[in-house]
Order: sequence, then C-alpha cells, then structure tokens
Amino acid sequence: MSDPTAVQTAPDYVKNNKLIAWVSEVAQLTKPDRIHWCDGSQAEYDRLCAEMVASGMLIKLNEQKRPGCFLARSDPDDVARMEDRTFVCSSNKEDAGPNNNWVAPDEMRATLTRISDGCMRGRTMYVIPFSMGPLGSHISHIGVELTDSPYVVVSMRLMTRIGRAVIDLLGADKFFVPCLHTVGAPLAPGEKDAVWPSNKQHKYIVHFPEEKLIWSFGSGYGGNALLGKKCFALRIASIMAREQGWLAEHMLILGIEPPGGKKHYIAAAFPSACGKTNLAMLIPPKELKGWKVTTIGEDIAWIKPGADGRLYAINPEAGAFGVAPGTSEFTNPNCLAALHKNTIFTNVALTPDGDVWWEGLSQTPPMHLTDWQGKLWDPDGDTPAAHPNARFTVAASQIPCIDADWENPAGVPISAFLFGGRRTTTVPLVVEAKDWTHGVYMAATMASETTAASVGKMGVVRRDPFAMLPFCGYHFGDYFNHWLKVGKTVAQAPKIFAVNWFRRDELGKFMWPGYGENMRVLKWIIERCEGKSGAADTAIGKMPRYEDMELKGIGGFSKKAFDELTKVDKKLWQAEVKDHERLFGELLARMPAEMLEQRRQLEKAL
Ligand code: GTP
Ligand code: SPV
Ligand code: MN
Repeated sequence: MSDPTAVQTAPDYVKNNKLIAWVSEVAQLTKPDRIHWCDGSQAEYDRLCAEMVASGMLIKLNEQKRPGCFLARSDPDDVARMEDRTFVCSSNKEDAGPNNNWVAPDEMRATLTRISDGCMRGRTMYVIPFSMGPLGSHISHIGVELTDSPYVVVSMRLMTRIGRAVIDLLGADKFFVPCLHTVGAPLAPGEKDAVWPSNKQHKYIVHFPEEKLIWSFGSGYGGNALLGKKCFALRIASIMAREQGWLAEHMLILGIEPPGGKKHYIAAAFPSACGKTNLAMLIPPKELKGWKVTTIGEDIAWIKPGADGRLYAINPEAGAFGVAPGTSEFTNPNCLAALHKNTIFTNVALTPDGDVWWEGLSQTPPMHLTDWQGKLWDPDGDTPAAHPNARFTVAASQIPCIDADWENPAGVPISAFLFGGRRTTTVPLVVEAKDWTHGVYMAATMASETTAASVGKMGVVRRDPFAMLPFCGYHFGDYFNHWLKVGKTVAQAPKIFAVNWFRRDELGKFMWPGYGENMRVLKWIIERCEGKSGAADTAIGKMPRYEDMELKGIGGFSKKAFDELTKVDKKLWQAEVKDHERLFGELLARMPAEMLEQRRQLEKAL
C-alpha cells in the first residue's frame, strides 16, 4: 500500500473519530506498508512472536525449561533509557524546569516531522489501545500507542491492558494520550531487516505537555519505546496529576500484614535499579515469621485522595520490566519463580540448551554461554555475559506474591511513603520525618548513585528528588509545591520515611544485609504507623534505637554495627545541606518557601 489511510483500515468497532483521524495523519506521514489494529488476543501475541522468531528478532527458549519464553538481543547502542535525548517541550521553557531538556514545541515538532517522513516504510504500523490501571477505575487512564515494532506490541501486552476492550471504553469521545513510536528504520523494497532495527543517527523521546502527546523516535528499548511506562505513566501523568490533584510516582506498592494484625500498604520510591522490584516481592526472614508481604506494583504508583481522607494507590501497569542481573533464588525467589514461563528476556546470556543466565543468577556460570551480543562468552574476559541493564518482561499475574487487591479499581490505602537512594556514606538505615513538610524535604533532597538503567556514567552521586529526576514532566519547584498541597488536602496523610540499604564500611562492604532482611525496617515502620514502636529524635529526624528494632538472627549484628549504620556524621551532613542549597538554588524561581525554611532549620540543628 503506497498511501494508506486509517479510515480505510479502522475496524468498524472503532467509534472515536479523534483516534481515527490521528492514526490516519500519522500513517500519511510515516507511510507504513500496513496498519494493524491490535485486538490484544493470545492468538495475535502468538502470531507476532512466531513472526519475530522467523525474522531473528526473538529466539525461542527451551520449551521444557522456559515454556513460552523468548530472548531478544538489542543493538549494542540501544540498551537503556537515554536521559540526554529525553525532552519536555512545554510552550513556556520555565514550566519544564531545569530538571528537563527543553526545545520549543514548534521547533521540535518540525524536527520530528522531518525525520519521520516515510520512517515506517516497509513495515507494519500497529495501533495499540491500552489502559494504564484496571479498566474503568477512576484512577486509570487510556493511551494509544502507534508503533512499527512488534517487540513493543508483545511487551505492551505483558506490561499493560491492551486491545478491543479499551477501544470500547474509549467510546466516541473519551480522552486518550496519543503515543507515537517508531524505531526510525524504514526498509527499501527487498531490503533485509536488522535483527534489532533502530536509528543510529537520531534518537528522541519527546513529551508535549499541553497536547499530552508523546513522540519517540529511533530507539526500541524499554522506557524509550514502551510508551505507557515512563513517558505516559510518569512524565505526562505527573503533569495530569498536578492539574487534577493526584500523584504519579516512581514507586513500588506493597502490602504488609503483621501476625494477627491489620494489613497496611506502603509505597516506596527508589531510583532506577535501586531495589524496587526486590522490596516489592520481599520474603520476610524466619525470625519475622507470620509477617506477610504481598505485591501491588514494583515500579509506578498512581495515587488519589479518597473520600475518607486517605490516599489510595493503584499500579497503573500490569506487568514488570525488571532488571535481570542480581535476581536469584537468594535475592528474590518470588521474582525468579515468576520468570519460569511466558517471559520475554532482553539482553541476557543464552545457555547451550536454550535457557537464560545473568550475573548473580548462580555463583558459577554455566559452560559455553552465548553473551547478550550473540558471541561465545569468555568467563575470564572482562565483559559481562548479560548486559547490566538486561531485563525481563513478565505479566504481574505470574508473580507468586501478587496481592489479592492488585486489580482493585478503588486502589489500596497508603499508610507510609518510603524514599531511598543508593548512598555509600552519610545517609542512615532509616529516618522518620517529623511531619509531612519535613518528609517532602527529605524526599526533595534525596540523592543516589547512577545505575546502568540509563545511558551515561555509572556510580555518580546526584540529587534525585523523589526518585523522579528522569521522570518528572515539569519544574521540580512546582512538583514540591504540589506534594505540599496534597499533604494539606488529605485528612490522614501517610507518614514519610527515608531509607538506605546501600551504606558501606571502609572496606567497601555493605553494612546492612538488605533484601529479605529489609523486613526488619518495614516492621519498625509499620509499628511506628500504629504508634507501637519507639524512636529517638535526631537533627535529621526520628530514628530507631537498637532496642526498637528486631535484629535477632542477623549474624553478628551487634549494637556497635547498628550504631555505625545509623550514625549521623555532622561533617558529612553539613556538606549534604550545602548540596541541598545548591539544588534549591537551581530551582529557586519556583521553590516553595517552606522548603527553604526546612533547609535553614536543618542547617541550624546540625
Ligand atoms: P527499575 O526497574 O530500573 O526502576 O529498578 P528497581 O528499583 O525495580 O530495581 P531492582 O529492584 O531490580 O534493583 C536491582 C539492583 O538493586 C540490583 O543491583 C540489586 O542487587 C540491588 N538491590 C536490591 N535490593 C537490595 C538490597 O536490599 N541491598 C543491596 N545491597 N542491594 C539491593
Ligand atoms: C527505569 O529505568 O526506572 C525502568 C526501566 O523502570 S525503563 O522502563 O527502561 O525506564
Ligand atoms: Mn523504574
């Protein structure tokens, strides 16, 4: 087809004229050979996977060991989010804030239009109607992704709720977020396709806040391409949330039920590859038998005030796109169990018998591995077998500890918010905020070491307010203000805590065992919420004393070790507060006065 129009191809059940017109407009620009409206069925999924196996984009794994599983290998230049190619194009530059790259919307639109002319030639354009959140929930929202990548289609089916039912919900005139994605690699007639098509020259991940439009060009990987995730559920949703009085956050949500007690839900923000998936699926240590932990979500939370004055959260996603390296029987058995079937692995290593492997899965790697780039792997060489940002894509329903209410359209009430970064020094194991405003200050000033989840230098400490630095779609000063406002509008604001699992000793060893043992911190937090457990006041907030926490059974965790782990070093904290001042200086034009005041108080207390 040389000049397809969506009007000819839209199935007759599609009643939304705005959608039909947009599909048609995009098709005229990008000139795909075909348009396919996804119905979301298993048959459609199976057919696309079979086509990708035939084209080499997917490798079918051993049906006995990993039934229904596939491996994809991306282009070595397309392995993670690219923060320096991510833009928020608001009409007013100030609205995007210093925390976002900005280009004037007209200029960006012109650039994208120019490079997108004919960009889908030789390919199929898929129309993916999807719901972020349970269909019909008052916290959910609808998007439609147009993409020329079948890998994106099957991934979106695992990660969100897609298909015909969403079109029905959209009706004639309901709102949807238009999400346009192209790998930017048109095919000439007869040209052989790349195994992982992408555009070497141009990569753009662009958000237009006023139109709520997302336009992603040139990458096929993760958050750059699965537009329901970071682009919609965080960047655009954070803007919608501010306009409409709710919160869109980079948070896991988990349920905690004390033995014989009342169940609580907490939401916790950590930067990318800093332990959300692990914490969300935690198994309590045997000393805390009887405590039950269940998962609502492991990456994103949408949170709305409820009529009863509490905050209610849903997981807008329906699957996990999680970090594979480090996932094991010891660190996260629940997660590993979820990956046994119907999983798409990307950039992990392949065993000779068609199974997968990654660093940390077992102590000794299997023999004769093929690495993530498809080459025979040398265990004595200095490159890893799996890419450090290798990921799995799996439906949430396969997570053994998934909460019975994970699809409850009303959401679950939140008792506490946690904020944590990867900090080798300075930040103690856990600190409770004095009140909401102080909690917002703690979250606004959190920092973390960078990880492989984003292209760039690893292990550099940077301020990452609310773990939202790469994801907040507008000026951070306005965002802090919005958080302050939400706290004032709800009658029962959750308690706020800062945590750090990553502090190290002089030898570079982690001081806290982490993983399942983090349950001990969660227990203290829940007991604080119930007014049952003690704490001491310090300059930076309330902290547990040795006797306030259950520490039995952690080999050699003496009072001395605990004191070291929870020490507040005045010198380091004074430097910390200086860096808070630097951050606030950059955001000054829109910084809430309360935050500046919090900083002065902390400086004085130190
Ligand atoms: P995104 O999906 O990128 O948003 O990240 P995530 O926060 O879900 O990351 P994930 O849970 O997959 O984090 C993986 C990394 O955190 C691995 O390097 C783990 O080894 C490390 N990690 C997770 N929990 C702990 C912990 O309690 N202690 C320590 N030391 N490391 C941890
Ligand atoms: C993250 O980087 O925080 C992720 C992975 O969750 S991606 O979807 O690639 O952004
Ligand atoms: Mn994430």
